[in-house]
Amino acid sequence: IDATGSDELGEPAVRAVEVPEPGAVTIIIPTFNESGNVRELLRRLAESVPARLPCEVVFVDDSTDDTPAVIAAAAQDCPFPVSVIHREEPVGGLGGAVVEGLRTAGSDWIVVMDADLQHPPSLVPELVAAGERTNADLVVASRYIAGGSRAGLAGGYRVAVSRGATWLTKALFPRLLRSVSDPMSGFFAIRRSVVTADALKPLGYKILLELAVRCRPETVAEVPFVFQDRFAGESKSSAREGMRFLRHLVELRTASPVARMLVFGLIGLSGFVPNLLALHALNAAGMHYLAAEVVANQAGVAWNFLLIELLLFRSRRGHRHWADRAGRFALIANADLVLRIPLIALFVGEWGMGVLTATVVALLLTFVLRFAGTEALVYLP
Ligand code: GDD
Ligand code: MN
Repeated sequence: IDATGSDELGEPAVRAVEVPEPGAVTIIIPTFNESGNVRELLRRLAESVPARLPCEVVFVDDSTDDTPAVIAAAAQDCPFPVSVIHREEPVGGLGGAVVEGLRTAGSDWIVVMDADLQHPPSLVPELVAAGERTNADLVVASRYIAGGSRAGLAGGYRVAVSRGATWLTKALFPRLLRSVSDPMSGFFAIRRSVVTADALKPLGYKILLELAVRCRPETVAEVPFVFQDRFAGESKSSAREGMRFLRHLVELRTASPVARMLVFGLIGLSGFVPNLLALHALNAAGMHYLAAEVVANQAGVAWNFLLIELLLFRSRRGHRHWADRAGRFALIANADLVLRIPLIALFVGEWGMGVLTATVVALLLTFVLRFAGTEALVYLP
């Protein structure tokens, strides 16, 4: 790999040419304007890692300041190879940067950590050692087990947000995260052999969660750590990052077709509310009740379309114009309604089913058809 950022600034980047030794570690560090931290970070890494573990450091940088140049300069004094991947078009934020680094990592172990020294560099060898000792695929540095703490999480507001996010995430993935006390941690070690970079769709900060859900490491170990104060500069997280996290959760939770169908169904059920409200209003306005049924159904369809666009299939909207998607969606939703009656007639009249059973079967059948049709004809695969 090259270090485009450094080249641009006329500084040579240092890069490992030899294949890393087995058992060695590639330390991936995402940076966004961390020029005040990287020198001290490299100094502390040099102090505690190479004596115990062969290592290389890969920075994945989206900075608009002189961070790449500061790294290149500081790398001259480092006892291990240091490289910088500078991204001109940062996609996926912090998580996207880490995945970029994962693609180039050559060691058996990969450690991901922040650049601002909130994650103690001295813990890097311990994370890998814990993995080797327990034969785990993933080792999470946790603030929430004995010996750990979130000392550096400034302010009651941030503590509350972090707590809420941890709770919600564990509630959504109870089995998968049973043995992970701190799924929000940005400090962890993972075996390269379990990382399938092509399966990852990172979205923002929670790259550990992304890896845990999509790569399914079999055994997970945890090592406590004290979340330190930031060394220099400011946190890059924001309310916008919070929204991105919620979208990321929805995407991870609906990765399987069964989960997607469930959410699709729940959204469909919620559509009864606008449907009935519209029906009531139209009746009150004196519209014929059958015409009102048809029109009111469109209120439910519109509501469902909105939620599905914004939540369920947000990342699969593709290049079709929204009006095109809306039209297709409405067509399928109404076809469902039209198809139900002849189906029920068939089940009852020809197959001798009870009316209630026939209705339930027809409802389920048209629901599955509607889901499959929407996936196939409205949104991207
Ligand atoms: N390349 C790149 N691109 N790096 C980024 C970006 C980005 O868009 N955004 C942030 N970073 C880098 C920062 O430069 C820093 O090295 C690291 O990612 C963490 O960013 P901070 O802004 O310091 O995050 P934080 O302290 O608010 O959050 C950290 O702690 C949380 C736990 O409370 C992160 O580790 C979170 O993942 C973690 O949940
Ligand atoms: Mn930080």
